[in-house]
Amino acid sequence: MQIVLCESADQVGDRAADIIEARVRQGPAVLGLATGGSPSSTYQELIRRHREERLTFSQATAFTLDEYAGLPPDHQQSYYSTIRREFADHVDLPLDRLVTPQGDAADLVAEAERYDSAIVAAGGVDVQILGIGANGHIGFNEPTSSLASRTRVKTLAGATRAANARFFPDGDVPRLCLTQGLGTIREAKLAVLVAMGETKASAVQAMVEGPVSAHCPASVLQLHRRAVVILDPGAASQLS
Ligand code: F6R
Repeated sequence: MQIVLCESADQVGDRAADIIEARVRQGPAVLGLATGGSPSSTYQELIRRHREERLTFSQATAFTLDEYAGLPPDHQQSYYSTIRREFADHVDLPLDRLVTPQGDAADLVAEAERYDSAIVAAGGVDVQILGIGANGHIGFNEPTSSLASRTRVKTLAGATRAANARFFPDGDVPRLCLTQGLGTIREAKLAVLVAMGETKASAVQAMVEGPVSAHCPASVLQLHRRAVVILDPGAASQLS
């Protein structure tokens, strides 16, 4: 696991964007996209490079990490809508190659299997962007998730629903989600986790310096062949 210490959240976004840009410029890339606040400076920087430096995503494919169960793709708060608003609609990524689990599928178990198969059929994820929850989750793999898990239906932890309530004006945060599993995430050729702020410091410390344990799902990245963790001073503040 490579740790990159940055001076600010914007610098975290710049470093992560450098890694994605390098892969995208090599040729058709399969990107794994997280949603939430953490990758937003990365997406902003990629959008800037697309507009000002001709960085093109026209040959790329993107898979999101997770989706709320029960929300149709066009729901304001679905992760499909979110990733379009925050990234895909501002670059030239073809929308038919922006893939999310279908949160409103009639058979969520079959949908999860289909999703894992679609990732394999695309040749696997080249660069997976990740954020981390204050409880150590990645994707929506909450503490006690199997380190070998595949894409599946999960119940969101109370703390995660509370943290995400800010995005749901009516307070009605879904209870279930579809998420790539820790085993699925581990298959990405390169994993890039970005974290900012002191609220993430304890989870970051457990991920980097703690034991590999289902109690801190992100610690599975210690087993990854190529994982880069990019931190601002707040997120790094509990590292020894
Ligand atoms: C969402 C996801 C989650 C978030 C995590 C941190 O796609 O992958 O693991 O990265 O909940 O959320 P933020 O970045 O909003 O603090």
